[in-house]
Amino acid sequence: MPHRPRGPHGVSTVLDGKQGSIMGDFHAAYPGYAATARLDELRAVEYRYLDRDGHVYLDYTGAGLPARSQLRAHASRLHRGVYGNPHSENPTSSASTALVEQTRAAVLRYFNASADEYAVIFTPNATGACRLVGESYPFGRRSRLVLTADNHNSVHGLREYAAKGRARVAYVEVNGSDLRVSDGALLDAIGHGRGSRPGLLAYPAQSNFSGVRHPLSWVGRAQAAGYDVLLDAAAFVPTSGLDLSVVRPEFVALSWYKMFGFPTGVGCLIARRDALERLRRPWFSGGTIRGVSVAGRWHQLLGDEAGFEDGTVNFLSIPDVAVGLDWISEIGIDLIGQRVAMLTAWLLECLGRLRHGSGAPLVRLYGPRNGVSRGGTVALNFLDPDGAIIDERAVSRDASAAGISLRTGCFCNPGAGEAAFGLRRRDLTRARRALLRPGQEGAPIDEYLSLAGMATGGAVRVSLGIASSIEDVESFLDFAERTYRDRYPCLAGLTARHGC
Ligand SMILES: Cc1ncc(COP(=O)(O)O)c(C=O)c1O
Repeated sequence: MPHRPRGPHGVSTVLDGKQGSIMGDFHAAYPGYAATARLDELRAVEYRYLDRDGHVYLDYTGAGLPARSQLRAHASRLHRGVYGNPHSENPTSSASTALVEQTRAAVLRYFNASADEYAVIFTPNATGACRLVGESYPFGRRSRLVLTADNHNSVHGLREYAAKGRARVAYVEVNGSDLRVSDGALLDAIGHGRGSRPGLLAYPAQSNFSGVRHPLSWVGRAQAAGYDVLLDAAAFVPTSGLDLSVVRPEFVALSWYKMFGFPTGVGCLIARRDALERLRRPWFSGGTIRGVSVAGRWHQLLGDEAGFEDGTVNFLSIPDVAVGLDWISEIGIDLIGQRVAMLTAWLLECLGRLRHGSGAPLVRLYGPRNGVSRGGTVALNFLDPDGAIIDERAVSRDASAAGISLRTGCFCNPGAGEAAFGLRRRDLTRARRALLRPGQEGAPIDEYLSLAGMATGGAVRVSLGIASSIEDVESFLDFAERTYRDRYPCLAGLTARHGC
């Protein structure tokens, strides 16, 4: 693999005062990394575009990356065959249907789910999967929706459906600097409802803000308490296996591009058939009905997955999901997970040790400081020599100039952001009042927050995945040291922030 140039000084001189290469230190600390060398070989061929074009890609929680062979498989399938709208029975339609059905079977196989127990519903993305559940779930006057605070906005949005159904919404807070949810708090939330009935628990298997992995054992515990569970697996499955014969949530939401980069525009709701039967769709559409009458004003929905797939599914891209799953299976999700875990632990260690010349820390980390029960997503801010947070927009600008792709802001995860920045409920209520003041409509969100006297800003997110290497981590550490050590950032020309 071509080697990217390093910064003027090896990170290790700043980290621990010793000369010597960070690579040597890393390999000594993680001898197991050598066993993941297959991923370097694949990067040199299948993900060659990264090094060819000088990319340091650190936004795998935003989107995974495709192997070249996945793209070739797509092109060759379209060149070889003719595929028509699957809502007919002609030859081209049947060809599409066959591939879509094969892909459903591949998804079930990958997650070790039985076709008798689970249905695979193709959606545009994980958000679409959450919406299907939200709009159809039988929320009622005394039922509850329990959410962890570190859910993605696409899960928080369920509370609007719950409110419409007059259900109660309960949040379980994330705690402390590692942004975890305690078992006790979760069990409390699903155990006590003061006059309310169980309903739906929705939580991320892995937080897209902090990388925290919440226990999958909550699924069974919530079910034992009478809850259905929506497991948001979007950030989890790109680096971890999920066995649906062991953990059996009613609903699993995910986006395939996060797992293997291609195709975009296709996600999945994997749902237990018994739970699907309890959902009530708020409408019907093309593709979802067994029969409908205009004059008679009646309709009958199709059973199972077909009744939930609105309109024409993405039949030219869905078969690429099977290609992607084969690709991941052939490499081994455990191998990917092991490498990402080692790189993440090392990244955390090194970031924690980065110092200004005065000895003051260069980085503030949010979420777990070590590699235990977490994925490869790391949230942080850089600090200037006085200890002030460096505006994440400056970091975004500087990283882009260095060819580094990372994410800044609140990453659609306001609950984890609020906890990380120590924003309290009453501050946020004040911000809301400021937001509603006449004449303020349309101003950027950070203006509202500062009107309410609150610190504004967001974090920086670095995330690792299938094609990540120690060289990527090294490049990022080098960038951090070169750009921010003993320096104050240039804040001129930063554009306004937008909301989550
Ligand atoms: C944990 C989590 N859930 C849900 C989503 C929503 O995914 P999509 O935007 O593909 O619908 C994301 C996207 O980042 C995510 O990280």
